[in-house]
Amino acid sequence: MSEVLDDLLFSRRSVRAFLDEPVALDDLKAMCVAARSAPSGANLQPGRLHILTADPLANLVVDLQQAIADNRPFDHGYSYFPKPMPPYLKERQRAAGYALYEALSISRRDLEGRRAQFAHNYRFFGAPVGVIVTIERSMGKGCFMDLGMFLMSFLLKVEDMGYSATGIGAMANYASVIEQNLGLGDDELVVCGLAIGKADQAHPVNQFRTQRAGLEEFAQFYGFER
Ligand SMILES: Cc1cc2nc3c(=O)[nH]c(=O)nc-3n(C[C@H](O)[C@H](O)[C@H](O)COP(=O)(O)O)c2cc1C
Repeated sequence: MSEVLDDLLFSRRSVRAFLDEPVALDDLKAMCVAARSAPSGANLQPGRLHILTADPLANLVVDLQQAIADNRPFDHGYSYFPKPMPPYLKERQRAAGYALYEALSISRRDLEGRRAQFAHNYRFFGAPVGVIVTIERSMGKGCFMDLGMFLMSFLLKVEDMGYSATGIGAMANYASVIEQNLGLGDDELVVCGLAIGKADQAHPVNQFRTQRAGLEEFAQFYGFER
């Protein structure tokens, strides 16, 4: 059993504050190549990455912050979460949200504080590199599963190279802003964003850990007991 893999899997966590240090282009290319090594149904290899830094990243952030300032309604290109959210999932969502706000000392009633943290999603949490993840609109649910494996491989390589990341599903809320800014084709669906950089380990937002469901909640074993 590989300690390296366990270490990567169990020490990875979403990082939402970054140091002011660049990510080398060669490192990003290595992350992309590692991601593409993921398996996919019929080897279709779905998904594209739009990787931004410097001015292109700053320009996209300006457009996204303008959309927030304008109270622009969210796009509903695809639904990330089940609608309605069943109570047991709502509970998990709440727990993750409370852990985040508690780490930042944002109280449950501090709507302004929560709004400000939400807006931070659209700055890629101040990371030096922002990624927009897209998939062809015509792809089926299986292809989204493939995209997930692609992204997990990407995230593991990020960790392995000494960087950190977080997914930003909230990016899909302003898909049309992103499509326009990047000049995406009509067939490209914005799935999520990623923020990548060196973790600011001392920042309060990076101090909490999320919990996971127990084994008995998601795995059933058949025919093992004799
Ligand atoms: C595809 C994807 C989208 C995500 N979107 C967001 C997001 O929009 N905002 C955010 O703060 N965290 C986001 N996250 C981070 C999750 O909240 C986080 O993965 C989850 O709470 C588990 O915590 P951990 O990653 O630290 O283990 C996203 C994660 C993934 C994988």
